[in-house]
Amino acid sequence: EEPRVAIVGATGAVGQEFLELLDQRDFPMGSLKLLASARSAGKAMTFKGQEITVEELTDKSFEDVDIALFSAGGGISKKFGPIASDSGAVVVDNSSAFRMAPDVPLVIPEINAEAMKDIKWRERKGGIIANPNCSTIIALMAVTPLHRAATVKRMVVSTYQAASGAGQAAMDELVLQTKEALEGKEVTKDIFPIQYAFNLFSHNSPMQSNGYNEEELKMVKETKKIWSFDDVSITATCIRVPIIRAHAESINLEFEEPLSEAKATELLGGAPGVSLIDNREENTFPTPLEASFKDDVFVGRIRKDISREDERGLDLFVCGDQIRKGAALNAVQIAELLLEQ
Ligand code: A2P
Repeated sequence: EEPRVAIVGATGAVGQEFLELLDQRDFPMGSLKLLASARSAGKAMTFKGQEITVEELTDKSFEDVDIALFSAGGGISKKFGPIASDSGAVVVDNSSAFRMAPDVPLVIPEINAEAMKDIKWRERKGGIIANPNCSTIIALMAVTPLHRAATVKRMVVSTYQAASGAGQAAMDELVLQTKEALEGKEVTKDIFPIQYAFNLFSHNSPMQSNGYNEEELKMVKETKKIWSFDDVSITATCIRVPIIRAHAESINLEFEEPLSEAKATELLGGAPGVSLIDNREENTFPTPLEASFKDDVFVGRIRKDISREDERGLDLFVCGDQIRKGAALNAVQIAELLLEQ
């Protein structure tokens, strides 16, 4: 028996990637339902050479669904996630709506698969599993193997985030603005209030009274939940850069135990879902373009933090495809874990 699958937000950037990954990875499915807003109802999308008509998302959409992959924004997840779960479907939610709920597992399959062991799609009891924030996933793919070896005491992250995290319309606007700017025209600002092309800006998530934006606080809180470990100090600065679909992050780590550059490189070289690009002689390191459309998170610039005397500090630079491992791939891997259970 194969699960009946639904994609909520099928027409969006992550939704389309879900379709591609389910095809590429030959995900076994009894049926596939594509859901989006009334605007898209009736539109045809292609899956494995077959046309599927997009349906409008309603309260009734989940009665014949076993696994629902959600990526239509937090508001839609808050409203329809519980409806899907109450209908008996297991929800894999890409939004931030349920990530910090104590009874909702927040899962990166390579890191904490055991967190979702009690959710079983065949029982039709429903359940919600949250996909972490994209910057958090990409950072932790690289940092967790080091944390397991030497225990991270403090982490300082600076991100260089792509347009894709703000959806298809943001990617389209970046391309349009780039053309407009090159033609000397005034740029279209429908998605962000600030010019994006040839610029960068502080992440557009809501600013808090302590001067941090929500994206930065997600990295702090979600890391502790995924690691089941509160005894770590984390600070982050999240910036959007004019890149289409892969995030880059500069990460400074302080460890409880000594960890050499060589040992860290060895650990990351053997870590699942991680690839090294770290060639000092040729000055080649990860780039967002190289990471785009790839499954792995790329790590380089692994070096001892020279601001310290001891071997308890390292710096890294990571790049990962925001739409893949940062969103759709991680969610599909969660669904694959569900199948195994
Ligand atoms: P639609 O294309 O019909 O607007 P992105 O993250 O790339 O912006 O995509 C957002 C996804 O969420 C799209 O598939 C979009 O569908 C979907 N969506 C947005 N609003 C709703 C809604 N009210 N009901 C269902 N799906 C929605």
